[in-house]
Amino acid sequence: MSQRSQKKTEFNHDVLIIGSGAAGLSLALKLASSYQVAVLSKKTITEGSTFYAQGGISAVLADDDSIESHVQDTLNAGAGLCDEKIVRHTVENSEAAIEWLLELGVPFTRNNDEATAGLHLTREGGHSHRRVAHADDMTGRAIETTLVGEARKHDNIALFEHHLAVDLITVDENGSKHCLGAYVLDCEANHVDVFRARTVILATGGASKAYLYTSNPDSATGDGIAMAWRAGCRIANMEFMQFHPTCLYHPKAKSFLISEAVRGEGGQLKLPDGERFMQRFDERGELAPRDIVARAIDHEMKRLGADHIYLDISHKPADFIIKHFPNIYAQCLEYGFDMTTEALPVVPAAHYTCGGVMTDINARTDIAGLYAVGEVSFTGLHGANRMASNSLLECLVFAQAAAKDIMSRKNETQKEVSIAPWDESRVTDSDEHVVVTHNWDEVRRFMWDYVGIVRTTKRLERAKHRVDLLNSEIDEYYSNFRITSDLIELRNLALVAELIINSALSRHESRGLHFTRDYPETRPELASNTIMTPGHSHPQTPLQVTARESAS
Ligand code: FAD
Ligand code: SIN
Repeated sequence: MSQRSQKKTEFNHDVLIIGSGAAGLSLALKLASSYQVAVLSKKTITEGSTFYAQGGISAVLADDDSIESHVQDTLNAGAGLCDEKIVRHTVENSEAAIEWLLELGVPFTRNNDEATAGLHLTREGGHSHRRVAHADDMTGRAIETTLVGEARKHDNIALFEHHLAVDLITVDENGSKHCLGAYVLDCEANHVDVFRARTVILATGGASKAYLYTSNPDSATGDGIAMAWRAGCRIANMEFMQFHPTCLYHPKAKSFLISEAVRGEGGQLKLPDGERFMQRFDERGELAPRDIVARAIDHEMKRLGADHIYLDISHKPADFIIKHFPNIYAQCLEYGFDMTTEALPVVPAAHYTCGGVMTDINARTDIAGLYAVGEVSFTGLHGANRMASNSLLECLVFAQAAAKDIMSRKNETQKEVSIAPWDESRVTDSDEHVVVTHNWDEVRRFMWDYVGIVRTTKRLERAKHRVDLLNSEIDEYYSNFRITSDLIELRNLALVAELIINSALSRHESRGLHFTRDYPETRPELASNTIMTPGHSHPQTPLQVTARESAS
């Protein structure tokens, strides 16, 4: 036995939560009074999309708002593909979700107006009312740091930073699959452990890093979606990748987001000559749903050969802007832009994964004992286009649903099954790390160029050809070399890219976030989800995915 294999360990918990964003930590806190919970973060505990969320959380809180109105706005934004039962369930639980966060001490911005439950509510695209609760323009940071603070206080919650889940461990029992835990790379000690648990939750966030330009942090590599697919779960609606219309255009800004709330508070989109243009595309102007705004910007940029357009709120008083958007104002100043006196250069960037691991209303996946919560999941809430600020809400509502379901299964017994340790006996250290970095860049570039806001069948087929080649190269590399976090993320990203491309190729219409020049119309008879099942031929493009090191 080598030094490395002697260090291998098996960890045992009641519940293993993979991910420490709004979804993972909310669920951990809801379970910790009854269970020993392990929470994994592949980087530091706060590093995930949640921390960077700006605009806020949508909820029906104002006297002049209603559940029906929030439901209808969500259905409209979703372009015919939302599951109305799920939408209602989510919206009906929105007030309770905000109350829970208030009880934990999240410092939402207040206005002390009884008509809005004492909270200042902002507006975003697609919402017909002011219904977005926020903590200035740093809502995610306020939520994440509060949840982390609470989790750290709990004896029953064990936090594992720099622990990257590699694959789920499953077993077949009487024809049905059960999840037993996960193989996890301890990135600092550099070895793979077994994390065993009766219940496993994927809370790994989205996959927007599949694109060259994205608002997301580096962690958004679709790991949960890829692990679930390899383990045998169905994945749905991956063609609906959302592009946020307004990220700062600056070589050093790395797609810093300019919140939709800036438009909600009066910001105007303008062409380089100062002309406003959104009214030509939608009567809701700057506050049309995101798919429409991002596509309009893309259209105008291509028409004019422009690198960016502008977002201008400088007509508002400077103190109003600084009070509402202190973080965005400060960050922009650092990049040399004063938003109180000038328009900001902006471009769209990949922002949110509407598809994901299919779950039911209790966040259960196709595999017994495995749940998916948050951006990794496909619950049916967002349909073909997520409405702004419905995502943090989904994290909280489905964390609550999963917690209730897990508690209800407390007395179920599980057979003891032994788990094989991670096998590294046939691999060596790679001396060609350049292969990983090169392939990483290649995936993200062709996804941006060929599978972006406006698609064609020819471009998708080009992307398909490339991703197939890359995946076979990555599989070979994975089989021969000792794993690193970069290799694992690349492997997941390329698989998710394949799922996005295949889903896009199979939709012969344009709907919501999926727009293709070859099928520009929305066809009512095609108003159904794109569901992919591992091991089964996809209607258009059979996926060939190899699994390694599963315990089944
Ligand atoms: P995340 O918060 O992304 O957390 C994922 C976690 O999984 C991380 O802890 C990560 O380390 C861990 N992880 C991933 N893979 C692995 C692995 N293999 N092993 C171990 N751990 C792993 N939504 C709104 O509703 N309102 C907003 O105002 C808003 N603003 C946004 C602004 C920005 C800039 C961005 C990027 C997103 C915004 N969103 C907003 C979307 C929203 O923030 C996310 O959808 C949501 O936070 C996702 O939460 P999550 O818990 O599912 O995942
Ligand atoms: C934003 O603040 O514009 C992001 C809101 C969201 O993605 O829901």
